[in-house]
Amino acid sequence: MTNEQYYDLRTPYNDALQIMGTRIDILDHNLYHKPSSGPVHHIQKRVKSKQSIEEKLRKLNLTDSKVNAKENLLDIAGIRVICYFTDDIYNLVEVLKGQSDLIILKEKDYIKHPKPNGYRSYHIIIGVPLYYADATEYFPVEVQFRTMAMDMWASLEHRIYYKKGKEKDEKLEEELLNYAHILADLEERFKKHNENERLKIQKE
Ligand code: GTP
Ligand code: MG
Repeated sequence: MTNEQYYDLRTPYNDALQIMGTRIDILDHNLYHKPSSGPVHHIQKRVKSKQSIEEKLRKLNLTDSKVNAKENLLDIAGIRVICYFTDDIYNLVEVLKGQSDLIILKEKDYIKHPKPNGYRSYHIIIGVPLYYADATEYFPVEVQFRTMAMDMWASLEHRIYYKKGKEKDEKLEEELLNYAHILADLEERFKKHNENERLKIQKE
């Protein structure tokens, strides 16, 4: 893929990403009817780099063309929404699913069903419409919802495995799984002091 082809590919995904970011900001400002105590702690966004796109297509045994990227990769645009509590995540997901111009393409609940290594997060791939002069086209955005505790674990696990060069280490894996449990437990303890409940918003 040439640089020019990458920038062509990138543009609409970046547009879809900005739109999703703003739509989540809007919910953060009004979900609990108080802009200062919204569900979101912070948001991170990225468009997959040219190198990562090429590597992923190579793994799929595909040539690194713009068409192959568009047809096979659902995570070119990615947004990570770091919330305070697990309830905040389910509240946001619920409301987003009710927004009629968005299409839910894929959903994985690693909170109800954590990965064996301890990874927890709520992944949802949303088709976001871009309204052009003469057409509407949908672009996928991968949204990862995590609490601060889930994000702490995932970020450190990513860093530690990355630094170790990814060789298997059962003792470390066991320890990481234990940390995941400790963090989930800690979050539960903080939750007792949380004022924003699950789906209170739906009734009002
Ligand atoms: P990818 O090919 O990596 O996109 O995986 P997938 O298509 O099976 O999707 P999945 O929803 O399982 O994971 C997508 C993304 O979630 C990854 O790119 C990571 O950002 C994150 N993720 C998934 N599993 C883990 C994990 O065990 N540890 C960490 N740190 N991040 C994870
Ligand atoms: Mg990915």
